[in-house]
Amino acid sequence: MNICVIGTGYVGLVTGAVFAELGNDVICVDSAAEKIDLLNKNKIPFFEPGLEEMVVRNRNEERLSFTTDIARGVRASEIIFICVNTPTLDNGETDLAYIKSAARDIALALNGDKTIVNKSTVPVGTGDLVLETINEHKNEGFNVDVVSNPEFLREGSAIRDALSPDRIIIGASTKKVAFRLMELYATLEAPILITNLYTAEIIKYASNAFLATKISFINSIANLCEQTGADVEDVARGMGYDKRIGRDFLNAGLGFGGSCFPKDVKSLLSTSAGFGYRFDILKHVMETNNGRAAHFLELIKTRFPDLNGKTVAVLGLSFKPDTDDMREAKSIEIIKALLEESVIIQAYDPVAMQRAREMFPDIRYCRNAYEACDGADAMLLVTEWREFRLLNMEKIKNSMKHPIIFDGRNIYDPERKKRLGFEYYCFGRGKWPKSS
Ligand code: NAD
Ligand code: UGA
Repeated sequence: MNICVIGTGYVGLVTGAVFAELGNDVICVDSAAEKIDLLNKNKIPFFEPGLEEMVVRNRNEERLSFTTDIARGVRASEIIFICVNTPTLDNGETDLAYIKSAARDIALALNGDKTIVNKSTVPVGTGDLVLETINEHKNEGFNVDVVSNPEFLREGSAIRDALSPDRIIIGASTKKVAFRLMELYATLEAPILITNLYTAEIIKYASNAFLATKISFINSIANLCEQTGADVEDVARGMGYDKRIGRDFLNAGLGFGGSCFPKDVKSLLSTSAGFGYRFDILKHVMETNNGRAAHFLELIKTRFPDLNGKTVAVLGLSFKPDTDDMREAKSIEIIKALLEESVIIQAYDPVAMQRAREMFPDIRYCRNAYEACDGADAMLLVTEWREFRLLNMEKIKNSMKHPIIFDGRNIYDPERKKRLGFEYYCFGRGKWPKSS
């Protein structure tokens, strides 16, 4: 099938590469000329494991191409995916300007009947808006169907998630339209749910908001564990054995960041309010999450009431492992707070340091975790990259000024760290020390 993908960010580029891999002819379009230039040189604008190889392979086999010319992409394709960004406005609403602009450009380029598939995460009713915008700008005589096909991939495992999705959701006005899209997914072994547009749009937000709720819930349980001496890791394990609950997304720590959960929870809150419904649970999910970095600093202050002039190693800068994405990363809040206390920061992240430099040009960036910990008064584990689980802790201990670990993601075993001679602090595993 001939496909056009509009937007070559995390979702668009992965979608384009995967559909090409499945044997389709794909034209990826982006309005950002610098991204298209990079892609035409086989360079990927962000870090995503396995993506570069897939893009290069499919470009070489001439199934995948990149352009800024949206009209070319639209004219050559039967199915057009909209994968543009949908950021949050200051008032919490979703900014649909990029969606509208893509819809308008599609309409102006139409040369036949097309199926327009919205993969961006958009508030309920946006499918109607896309259709209205296209109808307003298109020439008479061409028929357009709009479908909602939300994306559930995660950064860091995007290729795997796209090739083996837990489910495929297709929201369409008729079964006939839905079947057109089903054909594209026929080779993937995944349950397919066909529903109406509004339902598909809500499924996406409901899924992200529910996962965010799980995280804030376990972080609230961690707070309680800190008061009582219980162990949140065992609580999560104990809960997770119940198949109705499941262990996933019950990792206590600094909470959720990234370009999706914070944005989508806010958007669902705002959409609900727009329909006159107060979605109070979600307000608390955000409040709990917003308090996590401050809670971590509170813990650090129990040990270092005066941080002025202390040297701290910050391990991990991206919002989660296996990505260089710094959007709403907890490291940002933590570094800002530490800088306000005149802390000397020695940071290390396997791939996100270039992006971090744009935000924090004046902190010290290190070549590895050992260099970051060298001479430090404390180590702060902020993002749980796999390599941080495998460090030579004896070497770290001997190089630090004080062998103290504040584990923001609960990745280490407290007893082992103590046996190795570290002072070890984390979330929800035993009573917290009292502030002095
Ligand atoms: P992104 O910001 O990485 O990429 C969006 C791209 O769209 C940019 O390159 C931008 O230049 C381009 N663009 C914007 N308007 C355009 C236009 N009119 N014409 C051509 N190009 C245009 O965004 P993303 O992370 O890929 O997310 C895209 C959507 O998918 C969002 O709604 C997001 O919520 C959703 N989503 C993201 C993820 C994720 O893991 N990042 C997962 C699932 C869903
Ligand atoms: C999330 C969803 O998992 C995807 O299904 C969805 O498609 C995507 O949002 C989206 O809509 O854009 P992503 O943001 O890439 O994907 O990353 P996650 O792995 O979900 O992690 C999100 C945040 O939650 C990270 O900051 C992570 O550290 C945090 N998290 C995750 C926890 O604090 N605890 C957990 O138990 C799990």
